[in-house]
Amino acid sequence: MKKNKKAYHFETQLIHAENNPAKNRKATTLPIYQSTAFKYESSKNISQVFNGEAAGDLYSRISNPSLSILERKLTVLEDGLGALLTGSGMAAITAAVLTLAKSGHQLVASNSLFGGTYSFFNKTIREFGVETTFVDPSSASNFLGAITNQTKAIFIETIGNPKMDVPDIAAIAQIAAKFNLPLIVDSTVTTPQLVRPKVLGANLVIHSISKFINGHGNCLGGVVVDCGNFDWSGKRFVHFKDYSQRYGRLAFLAKMRREVFRDFGPCLAPHSAFLMDIGLETLALRMNKHCANAQALAEFLAKQPKVKAVNYPGLTDNKFHALAAKQFNNCFGAVLTFRLKNQAQCFKLIDKLELAYNLANIGDAKTLVIHPASTICIEFTTAERKNMGVTDDLVRVSVGIEHQADIIDDFNQALEAI
Ligand SMILES: Cc1ncc(COP(=O)(O)O)c(C=O)c1O
Repeated sequence: MKKNKKAYHFETQLIHAENNPAKNRKATTLPIYQSTAFKYESSKNISQVFNGEAAGDLYSRISNPSLSILERKLTVLEDGLGALLTGSGMAAITAAVLTLAKSGHQLVASNSLFGGTYSFFNKTIREFGVETTFVDPSSASNFLGAITNQTKAIFIETIGNPKMDVPDIAAIAQIAAKFNLPLIVDSTVTTPQLVRPKVLGANLVIHSISKFINGHGNCLGGVVVDCGNFDWSGKRFVHFKDYSQRYGRLAFLAKMRREVFRDFGPCLAPHSAFLMDIGLETLALRMNKHCANAQALAEFLAKQPKVKAVNYPGLTDNKFHALAAKQFNNCFGAVLTFRLKNQAQCFKLIDKLELAYNLANIGDAKTLVIHPASTICIEFTTAERKNMGVTDDLVRVSVGIEHQADIIDDFNQALEAI
């Protein structure tokens, strides 16, 4: 008897979930439907699809068969109801927020976020009339005081990038549920390999799939997954009424596709879906190696006299260690930060590194390094940088999957040279 595909283990699902050669002219890799629009046999039929009465692809800004395959696979991996792919992680965050909130609404977000996300909440979306109240996510109760009648969502990251703090997702989810609010979790740095946020009570999961899911730094993408555990017909979502009546549990996804995708166009390109799917197949292997290498580098750096502090939840003396171990299945991700004497020392060290690339990305097979204060966080005030844990003496590393000894040797020689 054929095994029920849902019963396969995670590693198998990464490769086989929704991969159906029989339906794709026997092709074993994700087919690229490089077509802007899709032809219909009758005016009646195309009209039905436009009107949501029949399923089908119309125009690739709204949906595309290549993307649908990957959307279904990511839905399986997050045990969700459905997913929508976007052209970048920022587009996923933007699309989710534009679906949930309009002018006059409010959001509550962690103050320890990726810089682009922080700017989006703090400036860009505020200019469209959506206010965000930022809270320190290290204690779930901090979220309580920030919730108002106009709040439409709570937003957190699984591990703050680059602060490396770990919120108690289950405790925050309980608060969100008490106030009938969806909890949005950006799980970019943990991926579905380390945590399935739905299990902890999250309602929407976001990934920048440009990072570990792609794994090779060769294209941008994002995804929003609806976990299927939030009632969109509740009082806080009266602006969803039409969608709830018509699409029921699919209200959020339908609103996002039919309004935000149609009107803002944040879609992913079909060829990018192909590259993402290739990356996804090896996620489990890569994440295990990423995490093991990051752990080894963190332990090495922690012993170096020139290193003032190392922020990595995998270190046993890290204040988030126990929570992270429980939440992330004893893996701690591949991003870490450490502090040297001052900015000049950070610059010197980065310039001395031979293997690690100095660039603004994370989640590549290659080890990547950057000085956040002078680059990705340069626009923020000193107070904002402080909240984000970004000091002038901080270096961020996204640890790659090269041989562990080569990575450590590289940092060792660079530390010796400063
Ligand atoms: C945690 C997190 N979320 C979102 C993003 C944005 O993703 P993208 O660069 O794909 O737009 C990033 C980018 O670094 C990130 O680190």
